[in-house]
Amino acid sequence: MQVLKLGGSVITIKDEPMTADHESIRRLSEEIKAAWPTPLVLVHGGGSFGHPVAEKYGLMEGYKSERQVPGFARTHQAMVVLNSIIVDALLETGVPALAVSPSSFIMTSDGRVQSLDLEVIGRLVVRGILPVLYGDAVLDQSRGFTILSGDQIAVKIAIEMGATRLIFGADVDGVYTSNPKTVPDARLIERLSLENLDGYIKIGSALTTDVTGGMLGKVSEAREAVEAGIEVLIANATERDVILKALRGEPVRGTILTR
Ligand code: IPE
Repeated sequence: MQVLKLGGSVITIKDEPMTADHESIRRLSEEIKAAWPTPLVLVHGGGSFGHPVAEKYGLMEGYKSERQVPGFARTHQAMVVLNSIIVDALLETGVPALAVSPSSFIMTSDGRVQSLDLEVIGRLVVRGILPVLYGDAVLDQSRGFTILSGDQIAVKIAIEMGATRLIFGADVDGVYTSNPKTVPDARLIERLSLENLDGYIKIGSALTTDVTGGMLGKVSEAREAVEAGIEVLIANATERDVILKALRGEPVRGTILTR
């Protein structure tokens, strides 16, 4: 079984609120279809749907005032809208995709997944159905509520379900020696071991967040999966057929995280 996380920046247009990248979603649906049937769980991010709403109501830090409560519901709904666009596109290409809402069966404690029952997802996969989950606004035992990233969901599912591979489809080729969007001679790191990964996390933490961006969070989240013996690949989902090849286990340009 494999788990594929598609980043929000791949499937939405970042600077335009609530705008899906329909072309990218259609192409990726076709790539999944070309690899189909295959035991797979798909998780997607929030991009311009979930993030602006969650930020507006300060949901990440948890419950502070009643004013946030409608924001909690609205963040979830923004994700439902995006999820429905993705599920529709998959159904149209002939992949039996089924929306699974994380907030209805996952709770966190201090931002970390606490309880999750994967029986339904497991049975869907066995039936030849593609469960499609997403980063979501979830109930949190200590904070009241929080935002649970699609990255954390993908890692947890991969570990609990014993996936062989976890693929992160990003808008860059993988982990770089420095930010490829600002540093011209940034070099792609093709293999990153746990030991070097720790160094990377330390360096990353010392830098300002926009230097490493979402990649640092992804890499630190993925650590647990690597430790569990899962092959973790970060590759560029904005480039044609990269995800198709990754799903087929063919070599692609990217970063492989290893023990
Ligand atoms: C965020 O999920 C979901 C919400 C904001 C509700 P992710 O953190 O996985 O999204 P991306 O991939 O960074 O956009």
